[in-house]
Order: sequence, then C-alpha cells, then structure tokens
Amino acid sequence: MSSTTERFDRRARGEFARIGTTRVHRGELLRHPVYTRFLHWSVAIFFILSLLTGFAIYSPWLFQFLTPLFGGGARTRALHPWFGLIFTVFFLFQFVNWFAPMAWTAADRRWMKRMRGYVTNQKRLEEEDVGFFNGGQKLYFWAIAISAVLFLITGLLMWFDDTVPRWSVAVSYVIHDLAALLMLGGFIIHIYEGTAHQPGTFRSMINGTVTEKWAWTHHPAWFKAVTGRSAREAYDREKRRHEERQRAVRAWEAEYDSRENTRSETDSNRSRKDLS
Ligand code: HEM
Repeated sequence: MSSTTERFDRRARGEFARIGTTRVHRGELLRHPVYTRFLHWSVAIFFILSLLTGFAIYSPWLFQFLTPLFGGGARTRALHPWFGLIFTVFFLFQFVNWFAPMAWTAADRRWMKRMRGYVTNQKRLEEEDVGFFNGGQKLYFWAIAISAVLFLITGLLMWFDDTVPRWSVAVSYVIHDLAALLMLGGFIIHIYEGTAHQPGTFRSMINGTVTEKWAWTHHPAWFKAVTGRSAREAYDREKRRHEERQRAVRAWEAEYDSRENTRSETDSNRSRKDLS
C-alpha cells in the first residue's frame, strides 16, 4: 500500500476520532476505532440495499414484495447500480483501512487446516498465533474484495449494455449473479460469526471495544501484542480465579446450611421442652 493512501487513512482515523468517541473501560481493549465502524456500517447498509434491489430484479416473481420499498419496479432497477457503486466506493476505503491486518500469513494457512475444529467449537482457546483477524475473517475480506471488482466490471457492462458487445453482457449476467450468491453465503456466515457464534464480538462494531477475555480467547497473538501478556497465562489465571470463587461459594453454602440446621434443631428442642 502506498504511503499516500496510508497517510490518508491515518488522517481519516484522526478526524473521525475527533467527531465520535470510543470509551475503553478497565478490562477492555480498543478493537475498532470510529472510522472503521463508520466504514463497516456504510459498506453493510449499501451491500444490503444492493442485495435487496438485486433480488427484486433477479426474480421479480419471488421478490416482488420488495419493490414497493424502493418506489416500484422501475425505480428499484434504476437504484440498484447506484447502491452497488456506493457499496464499492465505501468498500474501497475499507480495503485501505484493513489492508495491513488482512495480509495473509503462515499462521492463516495453519488456521485453515484447523477450520473444522473451529466450526465445531472443539477448543476453548484459539491457538497462540491467531492475530487481529483469523484466517476465516481474512478469507471473507478477500472474497469481498474480489467480488467487488467483479461486481463493478460486470455491473458497468450491464449498465451500459448498448455500447458494449452482446456476448460481454451475457457473460456479465452469469458472473454478477454467481458473485452475488457467493457474497450472500459469506454474509450469512459472517452474521452468525459476528453475533451468536462468538458472543462479545458484535459490540466491537458498536462501541469499538471488546473484553480482554474475548481478546485472549479468540485472538491470542493480538492480545499479546497490545497487552504484552500471554493469552495462555491469562486463561490459566482466570480459570484459577473461577475455581477459587467456586470453592468460596461452596464453603459459604456449607457453613450457611450447618448454621440453619443448628438453628432448626435448637428451635425444635425448645418447642419440645415447652410442650412437656
Ligand atoms: C448486517 C449485519 C452485519 C453484522 C452483524 C456484522 C458484524 C461484524 C462484526 C461484529 C465485525 C467485527 C469482527 C471482529 O472484530 O473480529 C465485523 C467485521 C467485518 N465485517 Fe461485518 N457485519 C455485518 C455486515 C457486513 C457486511 C454486509 C459486510 C460486507 C459485505 C461486512 C464485512 C465485514 C468484514 C470484511 C469484516 C472484517 C472481517 C471479519 O470479521 O469477518 N459485514 N462485522
């Protein structure tokens, strides 16, 4: 990435940090600054608008109910390329913003080999080499980047179909639809991963922070880079604390039960004496 785009990105982060705020409380880490959150949600909004208008054009028979949302069939068709274009522009800024942490490394190749275990939740902790993003997240990012280029080229060919050869328009239809299906699949998995599969992730795109526990569980190498502490040690400490807490609760319950038993025995002895 050229130094001009890097400088632009750094300046944009600074400007957005002045407009919005991110509060990082004790036990939390900053994950996504305001600028990143703004780009992510702009990309998401225009992606969903493109998806909805695209579905309505692709199969009016199935998705006719969507067209009134956009002012009728003709307007839906007219709006779709504009939504797609705005999505591409926002994604371009997001691409620059995330280019460095999305670089593919040997750790990501290892992650891909362990993907089965990740999907089936076989381990409590990610491996020590998982950084800011894991291999699956990077794969999704690069799939969007490739799809965005395909969407743009094929979309422009279909938009200006009277100025280009017929065969290029026909091929564009197929590629555009295949890219959309790929993105739809990825989008569904992405929502699941960002919410239900990994509780505590969604808030990172709302208030920008995650808990340290989340960081050492899912991204140990990133946790180490920002705190200087080992994820494994943090996990073991938390486990010990949890066990000590459990022991203390059990001891308190046992003491409480024995006090209650003594009191009820004394009460029943007293009432027996009163009766005799
Ligand atoms: C509308 C529902 C969406 C939700 C709930 C959601 C949630 C999230 C969250 C919580 C993260 C942060 C993950 C982390 O820090 O580890 C994230 C990252 C990301 N989002 Fe979304 N997102 C949504 C839509 C989208 C859309 C439509 C796109 C693009 C088409 C997108 C692209 C990305 C990418 C590339 C990342 C970074 C890599 C990753 O975490 O997979 N998101 N999203």
